[in-house]
Amino acid sequence: MTESCTLIIFGATGNLAQRKLLPALYHLERADLLPPEMRIVCSGRKAHSQSDWLAYVQQVLEQHAREPLSGDDTDRFAARMVYHQGDLADPATFAGMATLLNDSNYPANRVFYVSLPPAVYGDVVEALDRQGMLEESDAWRRVVIEKPFGCDRESAQNLQRKLGRHLREDQTYRIDHYMGKAMVQNVLVSRFANLMFEPLWNRNYIDQVQITRTEQLGVGSRAGFYEGTGALRDMLQSHLMQLMALVAMEPPVSMDADELRDEKVKVLKTVRPIHHDAVHAQAYRAQYGAGRVDGEAVPAYLEEPGVDPHSVTETYAALRLYVDNWRWRGVPFYLRTGKRMAEARTMVAISFKQPPKHFFRTAHIERPPPNWLIMSIAPEESLRLEISVKEPGLAMKTRQIGLDAPFRCEHHAQTDAYEGLLMDLIEGDRSLFLRYDEVEWAWRIVDPVLGVWATERDFIPTHPAGQWEPEESYRIFDKAHHRWRHRLDPEP
Ligand SMILES: NC(=O)c1ccc[n+]([C@@H]2O[C@H](COP(=O)([O-])OP(=O)(O)OC[C@H]3O[C@@H](n4cnc5c(N)ncnc54)[C@H](OP(=O)(O)O)[C@@H]3O)[C@@H](O)[C@H]2O)c1
Repeated sequence: MTESCTLIIFGATGNLAQRKLLPALYHLERADLLPPEMRIVCSGRKAHSQSDWLAYVQQVLEQHAREPLSGDDTDRFAARMVYHQGDLADPATFAGMATLLNDSNYPANRVFYVSLPPAVYGDVVEALDRQGMLEESDAWRRVVIEKPFGCDRESAQNLQRKLGRHLREDQTYRIDHYMGKAMVQNVLVSRFANLMFEPLWNRNYIDQVQITRTEQLGVGSRAGFYEGTGALRDMLQSHLMQLMALVAMEPPVSMDADELRDEKVKVLKTVRPIHHDAVHAQAYRAQYGAGRVDGEAVPAYLEEPGVDPHSVTETYAALRLYVDNWRWRGVPFYLRTGKRMAEARTMVAISFKQPPKHFFRTAHIERPPPNWLIMSIAPEESLRLEISVKEPGLAMKTRQIGLDAPFRCEHHAQTDAYEGLLMDLIEGDRSLFLRYDEVEWAWRIVDPVLGVWATERDFIPTHPAGQWEPEESYRIFDKAHHRWRHRLDPEP
């Protein structure tokens, strides 16, 4: 039975709470998964009476819940919820909250969800500690912080020093919602619940690994955040590096949180450092220009509201990395992410080496296509295996076919990554949350690239919105025959 707790959301009026946290909690309510006594305290700066707040939450849910609201569920949800007003710069806000939480109607176990601008994470945790709200004599206390965890290795270390004065590592839940996606977890299941892949999962059989996360959306209203961040920090250092660790890690001793994270850290530690002289050979950045997405004209990044017209912030980033261990040495891992690309797609595409000798002619082409294994995370949730077969007819010719296995059928309920992560949080399962050393090692990998790009402020290549990256990006490939794998189906 899940223990009851009080969940306190700081930043309850923000974008993340509206789009993700409140809807996820409501969906858990509908599925009867929240502990009956659990209370939710929503903290914000704006003045709201309790009834105003509940009306606001109702509106948010009408807009973001997956299905039309049901009266019983919304009533139960509303009964758990209380609004607490206060500016976090004012110590009285924390004193008032401590008084509220000490009321016996609020379960003593507490989760503080810090959905606030990153600059205030440390101050909020310090203020909670000062009021004794993190003290664990009678019950547990957990604190969730959202990505970004710093903007380079040094700032991540500084943030950690500040948090570490008030929190133990096992109380700190660093959330990367990508880790909550079912298909990301399926990477683990595909690898460790199926023996057939294991003998092939190494440098003897695998030629290259590509990890892709592209979107068609532009920067939208997030220019303020994005201008100082860029694609490398926003996506690649976090989500894609996590995916790479799952693909490359050794089987853990168990699925226990620390065993799993130990293996991920070993991968990140083993990544060959990129020397600053090698940055141009191993990293590529670009920015989207004006173009068309799904037939509709869209502006260049530089024309988006809030973007500096001379900005060289990258909206596309690609890296070639090597995991220098016994299993992977010499196999290139290509990681790439971009906004305003031709398609929105997240996948891990693994290409195998050629057989040592070719006995059969292939139709139309000189070089037979390699076997590919594609783990598609979005938009399809599927596994695809490409193999050569004999073409029907008298001639002994081969062609490539794809075996597609979608994971989701119509009867499977949709869930959002935040639902699973919130349940893990309440249950104290840290396996899908990042440990500090994972964060620090991931920054160590990208820091040299950030350093070189920071000095090159005069020029950034562009590509038309709605198209794939420029061919210039091929310079990061290790072998002449390597090309970006854009889609589930092979390119014509
Ligand atoms: N949005 C996403 O999809 C997303 C995804 C991944 C990670 N994150 C991370 O999640 C965190 C929250 O993001 P967000 O998009 O929700 O940001 P947001 O829309 O800007 O919301 C920030 C929240 O913090 C509150 N706040 C700011 N300063 C405050 C202060 N001094 N006292 C009290 N409240 C204060 C704001 O209250 P007011 O309403 O009063 O201004 C608002 O509720 C950020 O760290 C972000 O990096 C967000």
